[in-house]
Amino acid sequence: MSDLPVRPASPGRFISFEGIDGAGKSSHIEATADWLRSRGHEVLLTREPGGTPLAEQLRTLLLQSPMDALSETLLVFAARRDHLQARIEPALARGAWVLSDRFTDATFAYQGAGRGFDLAVLQQLETWVQQGRQPDLTVWFDLPPAVAAERRAAVRTPDRFEQQDLAFFQRVRDGYAARCAADAGRFVRIDSHQPKEAVWADLRQALEQRAW
Ligand code: TYD
Repeated sequence: MSDLPVRPASPGRFISFEGIDGAGKSSHIEATADWLRSRGHEVLLTREPGGTPLAEQLRTLLLQSPMDALSETLLVFAARRDHLQARIEPALARGAWVLSDRFTDATFAYQGAGRGFDLAVLQQLETWVQQGRQPDLTVWFDLPPAVAAERRAAVRTPDRFEQQDLAFFQRVRDGYAARCAADAGRFVRIDSHQPKEAVWADLRQALEQRAW
């Protein structure tokens, strides 16, 4: 496990964006990228599962093919390993800001809290695959699962995860809350049950408050 670039002193920043499906991450990730670019930063916009050709293939399998929670977890971490090695670490090393639509907190929320997969095993995989790499900031868009379900129903055909019931998304939401409580310095919770402009104002304030 030694061929990820040696750290710690990477000059770039790594921000992940999380929340249950329908919480409205996407447009705010774009807005964050624009905001950072206007300040002269190089920005890499990426996502998980995905972000490399291999990981995007794994994403297709994960979102479409039925499988148990262990297979799901192993594929998610295989995708993450490739993503870290091929895109995230090189971008951070050259000073870019990496904005990822989801990262490992999603695994703890979906496979761990949602699917009931062993959290201790997830922690081992996290350590093994990431070798200490964590986002510098994680933005958690928090929205009641019932409201998120209404928003999803209005806009898209559900994938394998989005077909889950309300109880599943309540567990996923609780999973995010637990990760947030356990690592409060890394997380910012954004109340997403408000108009889009207000959500963006809260997010921008959180970004500005960081001593970057
Ligand atoms: P999402 O990022 O919401 O993309 P889209 O907006 O195109 O639907 O979808 C990815 C799905 O993958 C989402 O339902 C959560 C799930 N997922 C996991 O279950 N575990 C993980 O570790 C990650 C990163 C995502």
